[in-house]
This record gives sequence, structure tokens and C-alpha cells, in this order.
Amino acid sequence: MIKLARKNAEESGYKNVEFRLGEIEHLPVADAVVDVIISNCVINLALEKQQVFNEAYRVLKPGGRISISDVVAIAEIPKSIKNDLTNLAGCIAGAEYVENIENMLKNSSFINIRMIPKDNSKDIIKNWVPGKNAEDFVASYIIEAQKEEIN
Ligand SMILES: C[S@@+](CC[C@H](N)C(=O)[O-])C[C@H]1O[C@@H](n2cnc3c(N)ncnc32)[C@H](O)[C@@H]1O
Repeated sequence: MIKLARKNAEESGYKNVEFRLGEIEHLPVADAVVDVIISNCVINLALEKQQVFNEAYRVLKPGGRISISDVVAIAEIPKSIKNDLTNLAGCIAGAEYVENIENMLKNSSFINIRMIPKDNSKDIIKNWVPGKNAEDFVASYIIEAQKEEIN
């Protein structure tokens, strides 16, 4: 991913970007230096999701925000789907309940939390796992939240 990102940046002539190898639970970034965090389909893969949001909070500047696209659970995921490692790697089996994600964000002290289901979520999930009705158990969401500004 890092190699590909560097290659794409070079080919596109982007000089103001930098790519660092790290884990989402332990960001290679100093405290309070980031304006915005974006992430697409990584948090469902993380085993320590509370730690992910604590880290995001740590590196954000006051007033900074996260805007994440990820897969979340909207109903209990059947064991036949959950225990299939292909579905874990495929961003389905590791999905956490929407309410739990919201609580984790609150635990990390985030404010202005918004959990927004994507209109085309059912089509996205159906394409990933055809014939298993996974779209009844997980959904693609936009997750937004902010670190409080210091006045
Ligand atoms: C489904 S891919 C999404 C990649 C990219 N965000 C995109 O939209 O194309 C998930 C990526 O997360 C990485 N990943 C998985 N667990 C991670 C972790 N704990 N910390 C950082 N990256 C992780 C994987 O190596 C993989 O590159």
C-alpha cells in the first residue's frame, strides 16, 4: 500500500504528501498536529477499536475531525459469516455494532458524532458477499466526529 501510494503520488506530481508505515492503533504521528483524519475500510479490521479512536483523538488538533468510511454491524452477524476468515479479511466479520462505535467515540471524548448509513450500502455489501444476505447484518457507514476546540 505504501509503495503504491508513493508511486501514485509521484506519477500524479503530488509534492506535498508523505506516507508513513504504521498501525492504526499506534499512529506514527505526534500529539495534536492533525486537522482531519480520513480512513476507508480499515477500522473493522482492527482488533482494538477503542484504542484506534483514542489514537485518533490524541493526534488531532483541538477542533480537528475524523471522517471515516467503514463497515459496521446493524444486527448480530451469524456465526457462518463471522467465523469465515475470508469475511474477516473482506471487511465484514470484524464489523462492530453502530452503537458500540458511537460509545467508543464518546469514550475517547469526541463530540459532534454522526453515524450516517450510505444510500448504496446494501448494493455494496451484496456485491462483496453474494448470496449470504450479509447486507442484513452489516452496512457501510460514514462516521464523523470532532475533537473539542479550546477557547
Ligand atoms: C480494505 S483495505 C483498504 C485500503 C484503503 N484504505 C483503500 O480504501 O483502498 C484495508 C487496509 O488496512 C490495512 N490494515 C489492516 N489492519 C490494519 C491496522 N491495524 N493498522 C493499519 N492498517 C491496517 C491493510 O493492510 C489494508 O491495506
